[in-house]
Amino acid sequence: MKKKKISKEEAKKRIEELRELINYHNYRYYVLNDPVISDAEYDELFRELQELEEMFPEFITPDSPTQRVGAPVKEGFRPVRHSVPMLSLQDARNEDEIREFDARIKRFLNLPMNTLIEYSVEPKYDGLSCEIVYRNGRLEVASTRGDGYVGEDVTPNVKTIKTVPLRLIKNEDLPIPPLLEVRGEVLMPKKDFEELNKELIRRGEKPFANPRNAASGSLRQLDPSITAQRRLDFITWGVGLVEGVTFKKHSEIIEALGKWGFKTANPRAVVKGIDKVIEFYKKMESIRDDFEYELDGVVVKVNDLDLWEKLGTTARSPRYAIAAKFKPRQRTTRILDVVYQVGRTGTITPVAVLEPVEVGGVVVSRATLHNFDEVERLGVMIGDKVLVQRAGDVIPEIVMVIKEERTGKERPITPPKECPVCKAEVVREGAYYKCVNASCPAKLVQALRHMASRRALDIEGLGEKTARLLVEKGFVKDLADIFYLTKEQLLQLPGFAEKSADNLLKGIERAKNPTLAKFIYALGIPNVGEYTAGVLAEHFKSWERFSNASFDELISIKGIGPETAMSIVKFFKEPRNREMIEKMFKAGVKPQAVEEVKGSPFAGKVVVFTGALSSMTRDEAKSWVERLGGKVSNSVSRKTDLVVVGENPGSKYQRAQQLGIKMINEEEFLKMLEEGKKALGIKE
Ligand code: IVH
Repeated sequence: MKKKKISKEEAKKRIEELRELINYHNYRYYVLNDPVISDAEYDELFRELQELEEMFPEFITPDSPTQRVGAPVKEGFRPVRHSVPMLSLQDARNEDEIREFDARIKRFLNLPMNTLIEYSVEPKYDGLSCEIVYRNGRLEVASTRGDGYVGEDVTPNVKTIKTVPLRLIKNEDLPIPPLLEVRGEVLMPKKDFEELNKELIRRGEKPFANPRNAASGSLRQLDPSITAQRRLDFITWGVGLVEGVTFKKHSEIIEALGKWGFKTANPRAVVKGIDKVIEFYKKMESIRDDFEYELDGVVVKVNDLDLWEKLGTTARSPRYAIAAKFKPRQRTTRILDVVYQVGRTGTITPVAVLEPVEVGGVVVSRATLHNFDEVERLGVMIGDKVLVQRAGDVIPEIVMVIKEERTGKERPITPPKECPVCKAEVVREGAYYKCVNASCPAKLVQALRHMASRRALDIEGLGEKTARLLVEKGFVKDLADIFYLTKEQLLQLPGFAEKSADNLLKGIERAKNPTLAKFIYALGIPNVGEYTAGVLAEHFKSWERFSNASFDELISIKGIGPETAMSIVKFFKEPRNREMIEKMFKAGVKPQAVEEVKGSPFAGKVVVFTGALSSMTRDEAKSWVERLGGKVSNSVSRKTDLVVVGENPGSKYQRAQQLGIKMINEEEFLKMLEEGKKALGIKE
């Protein structure tokens, strides 16, 4: 953050303002489990206050939020004093701030700047911290962090958590300490959080904004039988007082906790030097969606406990550790308008136009509202301040409305009266509004986009924009028209030149021999997703058999229900659909029957490429292997069947050698391709 010039007077005023704001948000967060700003915005306010207090230390007061952590004890709970204060961690928001942490430690310890400090790195779990005291190996009392000094007694609640041992496990080489204060995070797995929210919504209750609030709301219940109904876990990250056992490293503490029966942070690592720390941080951020629990960063701790002593703590946080935070995924912003989008089956989705805001490293200016049940459930209006969320590749969505911020000028969101694209009539079907016009151009654009998508026919260069242009120009009136496009037509589209036109035509040509499963999926039959298309292809083996299947045969297949069976039958009953598919076949489209692919040497094989090929690009080679029934993977594992070695192969070559996987050169690969093409009757 840039440091602004500010007068003493102004600073005093702003400090007061910030304290009041932070106190209010602390109350919403800790007491009500119902925050009205995102964590990132809270952190910003907090940092601003910290920085102003650093510039004007004369204004620091003992009751400033920077001088304490957490929250007061909730009414009804017995207060528990922690024998060692439960502090908080200072945040680092990016690589530079992590490096600054490392430099600060070396300055503080008077170490040369090139010293490689040993760090323990582990995920930062986004839950609520908790301390559990064991006396002679038996669980005695469990408490929340509270204000860092005094927490709430949640012993009966914590006892319902299956991953909390009621007695420590005995180990031969590790005694049971007379006193052990274990610290860790109480968490709700993401899947359980989603289910809980669904259930709360079904019951007409307010859902939680995120898994952490859900965990906190579930643990801090005066009635522990409610806690027992919620799936909570406990993962340890440290200790308070320990008697009878001494440790030299933080990593030893965590290992011992594992042996005593606790779940410990996973993955964790001990690394030397800040570069390795940053590597771990980046890796974890890139795979954060793969975890069972919500992670909001990585905790970096000096591993040597002697150094902990030397570094000490400030009033709020230790100097030996830092929370390296990931990019925030929730932010608040305002809804400027609501527009309607028509999908390939005619479903009209309300989409919120937002005041642009950065979420998870991407500027978000639209968020889906899903349907009108969702609009009603959220109680959302145009002009509202909302919490938006973006996770991984998922479309941004609105988590909740901050009704406290309403001004009275908000406008209701009204359902569409007509199709926003073709102006045809709309009908309500359950939570959705649908355009009744079978030839609505918006449906065709979406159907084209779906057909060309990576998991369907994978036509590179045919995205939504091109699809729209083709429909607008009238070059494409149904899906089959794609296979009749000419270069002259493409050159008339804005943004198209020789090369892009040639590329698109090549992509279309390549799409003519899809596997049966991909072809079925590409048609966009309602209720037939990628998985179902695979089941159908596996069962029917050929297009002829599939396209003539009866309702009874369809429902006899495991995994196909009456609704899906009905939509398939309906699809084939429509003469226009059959004509359109015939037209595709006339243009040379030929879905590969399952037996036919089996005649190819690549059928069912997992292939990895390493090094450059001279006769074609990696993408071309990949799409050939897929057309011939193989799968291409980016890394070598025991599941790999074949490695194609080009020029200057990389580390995959060594790995394949280690695992003893069959390797072939380009010439042999080309021979296999020819064989495969012959077997499948592809002339090219
Ligand atoms: S170590 C002095 N390690 O994050 C506090 N904390 O913002 C030492 N947390 O209060 C904390 N995962 O509730 C540590 N692997 C981890 C953690 C972790 C989550 C929480 C914990 C702490 C807060 C700090």
